[in-house]
Amino acid sequence: MSELSCIILAAGRSTRFPAPQGKLFYPLVGQPVIAHLLHTVSACPFSQIVIVANEHNLPYFEALRQQFSFEIVVQEQQDGTWGALQVALPIVKTTKCVLINGDQPLVPRELLERLFQISHKDFALVSMILSQPHGYGRIVRNADGQWVDLVEEKDLAADQKSIQEVNAGIYLLPVALLKNIEIAPSVVTGERYLTQIWGKNGFCDQTELIIAQRAQDLQGINTWADFEQVEQYYYLRQREKLVAQGVILQNCSSIIIENADFIKAAPGVLMMGPLHIDGPLVCEPLVELKPFTTVSAGPSYFGAQSQIGPYAFIQTGVQTAQKVHLGSFVEAKRCQIGAGTKAKHFSYIADASIGESNNIGAFVVFCNYDGLKKHRCLLGSHVFVGSSSQLIAPVVIGDHSYIGAGTTVTHNVAPQRLITRRAPWRDRAVKKGEELCVESSAASDLT
Ligand code: UD1
Ligand code: MG
Repeated sequence: MSELSCIILAAGRSTRFPAPQGKLFYPLVGQPVIAHLLHTVSACPFSQIVIVANEHNLPYFEALRQQFSFEIVVQEQQDGTWGALQVALPIVKTTKCVLINGDQPLVPRELLERLFQISHKDFALVSMILSQPHGYGRIVRNADGQWVDLVEEKDLAADQKSIQEVNAGIYLLPVALLKNIEIAPSVVTGERYLTQIWGKNGFCDQTELIIAQRAQDLQGINTWADFEQVEQYYYLRQREKLVAQGVILQNCSSIIIENADFIKAAPGVLMMGPLHIDGPLVCEPLVELKPFTTVSAGPSYFGAQSQIGPYAFIQTGVQTAQKVHLGSFVEAKRCQIGAGTKAKHFSYIADASIGESNNIGAFVVFCNYDGLKKHRCLLGSHVFVGSSSQLIAPVVIGDHSYIGAGTTVTHNVAPQRLITRRAPWRDRAVKKGEELCVESSAASDLT
């Protein structure tokens, strides 16, 4: 396996994508476009990673160095991809390098790793087949099917525009050889194209052409429309990873999974869209996640046959044993919930340890925050919490206790107790014309 450096071109002016920080720092699934590529590149055995930045995005790259390890060079004049490469070459320490356009966030690691295996040729270039190749450099082949030229969109002859095989923007290059090539600026744009080293310099013969299996993996982001396609495809890839685990997806295109690598789900788990999962999650067999549910910021764990949603909001650190139901408009965070416990309607359950077979009625609130600190509630098993009750943490409620509807629980409750606390019932006739002021004289008026 050869030793390789990686150069990422990221100094373009982003003229076709007018984002304030440039397209490479536009957020894609919660991180800058460029961070996706950096994750992938950092997982490959490159001996050096060099980013070609511009003066405008340099501070953003410097900030990214807290997360990733790379060197930065600055291309002062944006005179094209060839110019960008020239800025990087002086600090490259290997004899060969991999060059990647920074605007391709979804490049698969396996594809980059293939470049480490190429030893019989000096160059490699990844191509892909697109039904709509507009904007890409075209791979021009002769009548025998041999690759003979690489022509940029702006320089295409009329009969070349329909060519569907395009340059994906990923290359293996010999460093020393590149230092001796002269590239003239394009008469159309004034830019010097890296891609001219093929056709005009006759390097096609010395280049391994790798045709990528899935073109969407390599889609570049030049315009907002490209960005939308990449984002959609990103989510499709996450869903594919879940289906590979045996998860059953319904209303698939509305299921948004931010990173399926952090989800472990048993075969047969059912996920119904619209659904949003953005944190680590484990789902045991026959868990059902019902529509309009959000599982956020994990890690969470759903025991076998648990049913979550519809419209549930599961925040960080929720662990359910088997057959737990968290139903509509239930928000839960930092809680462990025992087998068979149900909270099916409109509740807030936070900072709690809850036993088995409890019934938590509608509109129950675990009041976990006193304005300064969070406190926990501990519920035993077989507890009934009536609707519209508030548990003012910290409280402990013993096994087999009943909390009557509308009770504000401020003290610990021993096992097998019935607790009710409600305002006294008032019921009297109102005289015709009588003025009632509930706020100030409620007690005298209403007694
Ligand atoms: C480029 C290729 C094209 C290929 C396509 C694949 C060239 C000339 N063309 O076109 O053959 O099909 O990618 O996506 O390379 N950049 C710099 N400095 C510059 C100009 C650009 O660093 O002066 C960077 C950009 O930030 C970007 C990358 O180089 O990350 C590619 O530039 P871009 O303008 O997106 O090239 P494409 O038109 O997409
Ligand atoms: Mg591009």
